[in-house]
Parts: sequence; C-alpha cells; structure tokens
Amino acid sequence: MRAVVVPEPGGVDALKVVDRPDPEPGPGEVQIAVRAAGINRADLLQRQGFYNPPPGATDILGLECSGVVSALGDGVTGFDVGDEVAALLSGGAYAETVVAPAGQVARVPAGVDLVDAAGLMEVACTVWSNVVMVGRLQPGETLLAHGGGSGIGTMAIQVAKELGARVAVTVGGPEKAEVCRQLGADLVINYKEQDFVEVLKDADLRPDVVLDIIGAKYLEKNVDVLATNGRLVVIGLQGGTKAEIDLGALLAKRASVSATALRARPPAEKAAIVAATVENVWPMIEAGAVRPMIHTTFPLDEVGAAHQVLEDSSNVGKVLLTTSAS
Ligand SMILES: NC(=O)c1ccc[n+]([C@@H]2O[C@H](COP(=O)([O-])OP(=O)(O)OC[C@H]3O[C@@H](n4cnc5c(N)ncnc54)[C@H](OP(=O)(O)O)[C@@H]3O)[C@@H](O)[C@H]2O)c1
Repeated sequence: MRAVVVPEPGGVDALKVVDRPDPEPGPGEVQIAVRAAGINRADLLQRQGFYNPPPGATDILGLECSGVVSALGDGVTGFDVGDEVAALLSGGAYAETVVAPAGQVARVPAGVDLVDAAGLMEVACTVWSNVVMVGRLQPGETLLAHGGGSGIGTMAIQVAKELGARVAVTVGGPEKAEVCRQLGADLVINYKEQDFVEVLKDADLRPDVVLDIIGAKYLEKNVDVLATNGRLVVIGLQGGTKAEIDLGALLAKRASVSATALRARPPAEKAAIVAATVENVWPMIEAGAVRPMIHTTFPLDEVGAAHQVLEDSSNVGKVLLTTSAS
C-alpha cells in the first residue's frame, strides 16, 4: 500500500508518500480499505516533531478515516467485509489500508457520502466527549466554542444547537463568521477585532461551558467570562501550555477546568466514546440536523498542499485526503 510518513520532522515537504506492507488485522481488529482520511491539526504538530505517536501506534500519519471493511480479525462481530465505515485511529489513516480496534469503528451514518465520512469521527468524538461527557452541556445553557470555523468548531456549533443550547463562537475573519452563523451560532465574535470577554459580558451571555483550543493565552479570560458553575474544557494548546490561574475566581464561581486529549486514551475508553458518539450524534446526522463540514479534498499525493491549508488556517471545516479508491 501507499502511505504517508515523516522520516525527518519539518515543513510540508517533510511529508513523504512511501510503500509499506498492508497491515493485517489482529484479534479484535478491523482492516479497512481507506477511501479518505481526515486531516487534524495534531497531524501538523506530529509532522513538525512536536506530537509523537503513542507507544505501539504506527508512524503513518492520520487519526481518522473512512473506507470499506476488507478483512476481520479473530473475534470481531458486528461488521462484515464490504461494510462502509468510519474509524477513530491512533495513527495510520493517511494510507490505502489501515487496521483499527473494532470498538473504534462505526458504520457511516445513513445519507453521508463515504468520502465525507472521513471527517466525522475525530470531530464528533471530540465534541461529544468534551462538550457533553466532560462539560455536561444542558439544554438552555450557553456554549462558547473558540475557533468556530475549525473542524472541531463547526461540529460543536451544530451538536450544541441540536442539544438546545445557545452557542457563541470566536473566529478570525468574516468568511468563517458567516459559516458559523449559517450553522446556527447565536453570537459570532471576531477575536482579531473584539475582546470576547467584553462582547459576551455586554450581551449578558456568560458561557456555562467553554470549549477551548487556545490554552494558556485564553485561560484568564475564559475563567473571567465563565458563568457560575461553569465548566472550562481545554482541548487545544495553540496559545501555549503554561499560565497562572486565579483559584479565587474559580472558587467564587464554583467553576471547573478540565483538559483532555483523545489520541493517547486506552482503546476501551475510545470505544466508550465512539459508542456514545454513535448513539447520540449519528441520529442527529441521519436526521439532517448535523452534517460534516468539508472544506476541500486532496489526493494522497498532494498531502503537503493539504497540510498547507490547515497551516494557513484557510479551511472552514475539514480538509480530507482521498486514496485512489475514491
Ligand atoms: N484534545 C483533543 O482530543 C483534540 C481532538 C481534536 C482536535 N483538538 C484541537 O482542537 C483544535 C482544532 O482542531 P482542528 O483539527 O479542527 O483544527 P483547524 O481546523 O486547523 O482549526 C484551528 C482553528 O484555530 C482557530 N484559532 C487560531 N487562533 C485562535 C484564537 N486566538 N482564537 C480563536 N480561534 C483561534 C483558527 O481560526 P481562525 O482562522 O478563524 O483564526 C482555526 O479555525 C486544535 O487545537 C486541535 O489540536 C483537540
């Protein structure tokens, strides 16, 4: 098979398409003929040498894919060869064949194109596990999602609206702002021109849950803007890892700060998240209330150009890589 690896960390030119043997499914694993892979910001960090695969994971890039089941390992039930599926992976999606633990594989929701399904798993699982399982967002509450135009943000807006919450987002420009509004965001804040704390306070809209992808740079502001009993959930560190926190402010609000990462979790935890996501988000997708937001697709050979789109932050939603099976 053809697959994308990074022999030496670096810029987009560090991505190399190489030949590798097809991975064989072990017990409990599903082999998938990959139709498309989703690109995640974490892949850019891995390419630059800042985010190594967890122990035991392949060095082939890619945390999510869609495709067709091509073989089943011992003990796998619930899937047949030929099923159209999407998978959450610890690596290996930028390839023509991948294996995944069966608990991290799900049938493509009805009505979703097989290529587009490559952009579903990572964002749907991240949003459901953090906004709902950790953040406990309730109907009538307010979610603030930073980076509303990102792959994660476009899913967070749709899921939170479907749950009956109000949604505020931050974005860096008018194009992303417009898409966020179309997806149902109630308040869109251009963080390059406005202070999101001031805007939310002026609108009397203190968030009960903040889904944060910035980290240190926004910590103080996020705690400041949280509602009483608010939950700040940090999932990205684009603005750094270290900052001071005013525990007095947290205490006075009876607020909490959590931080999670999906990739390094044990398979049983990932399987529980996939199961909860399929149970709750897949019906929203099948009802037409939530859809994968696909910005663009590139063939596997143009993986460097695909990474450049995320590098430039010119994507609204997901960027995908397709294999020749597409
Ligand atoms: N912990 C986990 O399990 C997990 C899983 C998946 C993703 N993530 C994280 O979630 C984030 C989004 O991932 P993705 O793959 O969806 O990436 P993406 O599509 O590349 O989005 C990154 C976004 O960050 C926004 N951004 C940059 N600076 C900002 C700022 N100061 N304020 C608000 N937004 C800002 C950009 O928006 P503008 O262009 O509008 O500035 C862009 O939309 C990444 O940080 C990623 O590491 C975490």
